[in-house]
Amino acid sequence: MTLAILSALPQEQAGLRACLTEPQMQQRAGREFCVGRWRDRQAVVLALSRIGKVAAATTATTLIEHFGVTRIVFSGVAGGLGAGVTVGDVVVAEACLQHDMDASPLFPRHEVPLYARDRFACDPGMAAGLRAAAQALRDGVAQHFEAPVRQQYGLDAMQVHHGLLISGDRFVSAADEAQALARRLPQALAVEMEAAAVAQVCHDYGVPFAALRTISDRADDSAHVDFPAFLEAVAGRCTTLIMQHWLDG
Ligand code: ADE
Repeated sequence: MTLAILSALPQEQAGLRACLTEPQMQQRAGREFCVGRWRDRQAVVLALSRIGKVAAATTATTLIEHFGVTRIVFSGVAGGLGAGVTVGDVVVAEACLQHDMDASPLFPRHEVPLYARDRFACDPGMAAGLRAAAQALRDGVAQHFEAPVRQQYGLDAMQVHHGLLISGDRFVSAADEAQALARRLPQALAVEMEAAAVAQVCHDYGVPFAALRTISDRADDSAHVDFPAFLEAVAGRCTTLIMQHWLDG
């Protein structure tokens, strides 16, 4: 049994490598993979996909075909869309949908052609474990982040949400675009650029999948400023702390 922890960017995984015993770097498909054991126990592969659905799908396929992983969790940041999903919150996906999939009028908008569905469900057991881990981080946030960082990124008010996560090959950085997306997909909690592609690959291979996103921005006119600041200051620490709560108990 090997778990893959996949992120788009290195900042989203900062701190994770230090949790692996005997980490070994391997190159494949133009990417670096870090193979090791989580604190000497379970086999883990850390992978960085880069940004976008194709990059994420290639990486997920390589993880399954070459590294033989049996579970994949995607962890990183997202733009908040749902009412009350604000910077510093955590979203655990129950299902993932590609918001830029549109083969209408041949198929209904968002439906993935020939899959008879517009969303791929996440593994309920993994999602429940990640939710509990995120709640544990929320409850202990003051132990892990200094007061100025908690204040700047709203971490004292951190909420853990669960529901629909949407992906597309667009960085959403305008309030009117975010509002249009929220109107079109009112169940969507957050938007990012990879998870739904990985969910589709995992569906094809029968590999359990989960996705976890910390909210870096509101996908509005200041998203291009909020996103990089959050990425550097908070993203990797959140991933690492949640994975520690999940895997160490
Ligand atoms: N990831 C983080 N913020 C995002 C946004 N606003 N749009 C798309 N992906 C994101």
